[in-house]
Amino acid sequence: METIPAGVFGAEIMARADALGRCSDVAGELTRVFLGPAYGQTAAMVTEWLVDAGMTVHTDAIGNVVGRYEGSVAGLPALILGSHLDTVRDAGKYDGALGVIAPISAVKWLNQRGRRLNFAIEVIGFADEEGVRFQTAFLGSHAVAGIFDPALLAKRDDAGVSMADALGDHGLDPGGIDGAAHRREQVLGYVEMHIEQGPVLEAEGLPVGVVTSINGSTRLEVTLTGEAGHAGTVPIPMRRDALTAAAEAVLAVEKVCSAGQGLVGTVGKLVVAPGAANVIPAQVRFTVDIRAPRDPDRTAAVDDVAAAIAEICARRNIGHELRRAYETPSCDCAPWLIRRLDAAISAHGIEPRRLPSGAGHDAMSMAALTDVGMLFVRCEGGVSHNPVEAIQEADADLATRVLCHFLQNFQPNETS
Ligand code: HGY
Ligand code: MN
Ligand code: MN
Repeated sequence: METIPAGVFGAEIMARADALGRCSDVAGELTRVFLGPAYGQTAAMVTEWLVDAGMTVHTDAIGNVVGRYEGSVAGLPALILGSHLDTVRDAGKYDGALGVIAPISAVKWLNQRGRRLNFAIEVIGFADEEGVRFQTAFLGSHAVAGIFDPALLAKRDDAGVSMADALGDHGLDPGGIDGAAHRREQVLGYVEMHIEQGPVLEAEGLPVGVVTSINGSTRLEVTLTGEAGHAGTVPIPMRRDALTAAAEAVLAVEKVCSAGQGLVGTVGKLVVAPGAANVIPAQVRFTVDIRAPRDPDRTAAVDDVAAAIAEICARRNIGHELRRAYETPSCDCAPWLIRRLDAAISAHGIEPRRLPSGAGHDAMSMAALTDVGMLFVRCEGGVSHNPVEAIQEADADLATRVLCHFLQNFQPNETS
């Protein structure tokens, strides 16, 4: 097997990450939501790269961009690589994007040498993972894994546009999403390259690592309802202020999730209505994101947060509604994929480092379809979901050489 010299991939990957990072719904920042204004430009750019790498390309009914590189004969079961093309608001340009761009470069390297393996490779750019637009998550990988919930098509974004209409606006068929699902027997596994979004690899001076498991997450949508009133005339004890109740609730989330066991809790979005400086807030809507390595710890924390919010609202005479926007159980990566990723890293003279993922990934959805593995890449300061997100070109280059080694040594029949 040909040893790939250092430097083959880095420049192209960094340049493409820059180019994709300029595909944004919002001028002056990187925000690329599911089927947003930048979707068409993004899909076209990724399609061009997939074709350049020698793949056939199609867009599936939920907007995933799917590239396929046939094996030695057409129609062989596929190893799926990929990640998400959408971003959070005011995002960094490597979260998701690296996991699409790097595998494309790896396949391009194989294609340039006429290398056909005894399995097919698919590279998928998932259309929605972050769930920013519709308060969902993993829509693209749920569709591929065959676990998409059609009830979500009725969900509306902040502008009142339904998911079904958003799909139709892009010429996509909401009724055809089942067709995006892959058959289990046609898939050999799923491997996702992703920035770590945490500080471990950098702290240990390692460029890459192998994911052992992915923390589960619960996302709640909470609505507190009080009573609007004049800020100048209503005495404090007579108020039904939705925002002061929400303030107590936000601190309750922090308190419950400070209990250890790797628990984290975040209120990332909070909307106050009517939102005027001289009106006592009548309604507050906010999200709660709770994660933990172990599902029982997470579900117990969710119950404790719900109980705390109920107590706060009863004491303050505030109405409340709490809805589980989505729940994703923790996910173990397949030991056989972990071992093979370890071997590919060792082959490059690096001590394999196994670590859990605090962040959620499309691999969690794909685990419903097939065995999954993840290759982490060091990111500077462990910072992510932030425009300063950064990686080193040499690390992107090395990770892609590791991926190429993994692909060339992958044997479809040894899935254990
Ligand atoms: O929220 C997450 O962990 C991921 O970025 N979607
Ligand atoms: Mn993310
Ligand atoms: Mn991500």
